[in-house]
Formats: sequence, structure tokens, C-alpha cells
Amino acid sequence: MGQVPLVRFRDLSIPDDERLELLEAIDQLMRRGTFILGADVEAFEQEFARQCRRAECVGISNGTGGLYLALRALGVGPGDEVVTSAMSWVATANAIIALGATPVFADVADDFNIDPASVERVITSRTKAILPVHYYGKMARMHELMAIAARHGLKVVEDASQAFGADLAGRPAGAFGDAAAFSLNPMKPLAALGEAGAVVLDDPEVADHIRSMRYLGTINRETCVDPSLNFKIDTIQAVILLSRMKRAEQVVAYRNHIARLYCEGLDGVVNVPLPPSDGTCAYFDYTIVCQDRDRLEQALLAEGIEVKVRHRLLLTQQPGYPKTAGPPVPNAERLVAGILSLPIHEKLTADDVMIVVDAVRRFYGA
Ligand SMILES: Cc1ncc(COP(=O)(O)O)c(C=O)c1O
Repeated sequence: MGQVPLVRFRDLSIPDDERLELLEAIDQLMRRGTFILGADVEAFEQEFARQCRRAECVGISNGTGGLYLALRALGVGPGDEVVTSAMSWVATANAIIALGATPVFADVADDFNIDPASVERVITSRTKAILPVHYYGKMARMHELMAIAARHGLKVVEDASQAFGADLAGRPAGAFGDAAAFSLNPMKPLAALGEAGAVVLDDPEVADHIRSMRYLGTINRETCVDPSLNFKIDTIQAVILLSRMKRAEQVVAYRNHIARLYCEGLDGVVNVPLPPSDGTCAYFDYTIVCQDRDRLEQALLAEGIEVKVRHRLLLTQQPGYPKTAGPPVPNAERLVAGILSLPIHEKLTADDVMIVVDAVRRFYGA
């Protein structure tokens, strides 16, 4: 214990050139002295909306709050069902449960993303919305999901928390649903230096409702018209995010370079997450599916290679959730038993990747 890992899973330290830019931006903010909302938040929101090709963006305190507010503004409430993926972080389902609605879990396809055919099977008269997750940074099959939603008169909220910078046929993550929520916390492809999130959408009235609800449900910051909690993004995080967005494309391109090296080294040894043929994956994680996962995990950790099994429990297995009579999710159950996320970040070198690739190949005698 206490040893420096050989290959780190993430390295969130900020290189000097970017650090100086951020310090300058924060210094300017301190001189202006506007720490709650204000013009800096609006500037961030404008640029974020532009990059997601949306008319509106509302900066939120975190991604979970973004999901909650987007669903609430689109009319999801007690008694409604929201169909979402069995594979995600609990934040996705908790946002639904916090509204008094019921999450209904659909199975996933081999790329970990919600399977449109499975969605169609679980829709009932109580279904109000579909909440696909662009898991590990790869976009869900949005064209099919939007068509299903249109056929059944449902709303769609994208959980794009892991996917800033991803696209599907040139259309960015967040540009498909009635709304999309992003987490922008330090682990994410576009990262604040603390908690942050955003909702993007096109409808100005729904956007104004979310703006009101992020501020306790007030209008003019005074009169409460729809009681809510405090979900305001910190202005200092908005300033940081606006500055970091300049490098977002570079970050995703570098992660794709690392992913290609892994795919070349590991193809045929384990199941690798190939880049999509019709878009860009943000590679929030590089997650393989492998045999004998727990022993491989231990072997890599013993060599100082930081790997993670992210979300070992499916959402259908979370003890705190209502026991909904959702159908079985066999593909998600098969996948979750074999997932292992390998190190991926902007400081990882080709040599680091080779250390990981060699260790995995050795484990399987490849
Ligand atoms: C898929 C997914 N949804 C929602 C969230 C929640 O975001 P936050 O932690 O910013 O509330 C996260 C990240 O933690 C996530 O990975």
C-alpha cells in the first residue's frame, strides 16, 4: 500500500499551460466578484449549447440534478414510468425515483447501451419517458429510440453524463432528445474542478422552467411558483468549464488514439470496445469484456495497473430500489460479470498502454 501505481486509471492533474489559463480566468472572476450565476454562467451556457447544437443550456450543480430537473420539466411525476438502461450509475435511476416515478429497466446490447427492441417490450400505458444513457461515452442508438418515442408519444431525456464530445453520424451527444443532461464533474470528458452539470434542450419555455427550478422554483429570484431545491451551477465552475471547452475536442481525439492502441493490442484476446463506425465515442472509459474477470483484475492491480469494475451491480440489482416487475435483462447480466475498465486519460502514453496490453496478454497466455 502507499506505492505509486505503475499505470494510473485517471490522472486529473492539470498541465502547466492549462493551469495558467484557469488561474487567469479565476483571477478575473475574483476581480469581478460575481460568484452566483451572472454573465459568466450565461457565457458558459451559450458556448455549451452551441457545442451541443441546441438553442438552450441551463447550468446545473451536478448531473443528477440535471436529470431530475429535465424529467420534471417534461412532466414526469408520481405514478409515471420511465424506461432506462439496466446498466448505469445509480444517479440515472435515482433521478426518476426522486420524482416519485418508477424506473423500468430495459436490457442492453453488446455495446452496453440500451437495446431499442428491449425498450419497446417494456412500454406500458404508464410510460412517460425514455432515458437512454450514452454509457462509457458511446452514444445509444438514438435514431431508433426517438422513433419508438414518437410512436408511443413519449419524452426522451439523454443521460449524456459520460459522453460530452461524442457524436452519432455527426450529431453531438445531447442533440437528440427533448432534453439531455450532462455531468461535468472532474471524472468526466469535460471536467469542472468540482461538481457541475448542465441540461441542454431547444424549447425556451421548458428551459425557463428548469432555470426557475434550479433556483428553488422562483421567478425573479423572489417569488416561489413551483417549490424546488437549489441546483445552481457554481459560477467558478462555469468559468473553468468555459475555459476547458477549448480543449475538449483534443481530449476526445487523444482518448480515441489511446483506445485505438488498446484495440490493436487486445483484439482477439478480450472483447474490445471498438470505435463506432457511424460516429465518435468519447471514451469516458475503455471497458473490455473478459473471461475470469476478477482474477484478471487482481493480477493487474498486483502489477500496479489501476483498473476498475465500474458499477458491479446492475440497476436491477440495487437493494434500495422498488421491486419493479421488469423483465429479465440477460445481456446486461452476462456483460456485467465480465466488464473491466482499463486506464484511459490524457497523460497516458503509448508505453503505458503497452504495459497494460502486455499484462493482459500474459494473463491469458496470448
Ligand atoms: C451515467 C451517469 N449519470 C449520471 C451521473 C450523475 O452525475 P453527477 O455525479 O454529476 O451528479 C453520472 C456521474 O456521476 C453518470 O456517470
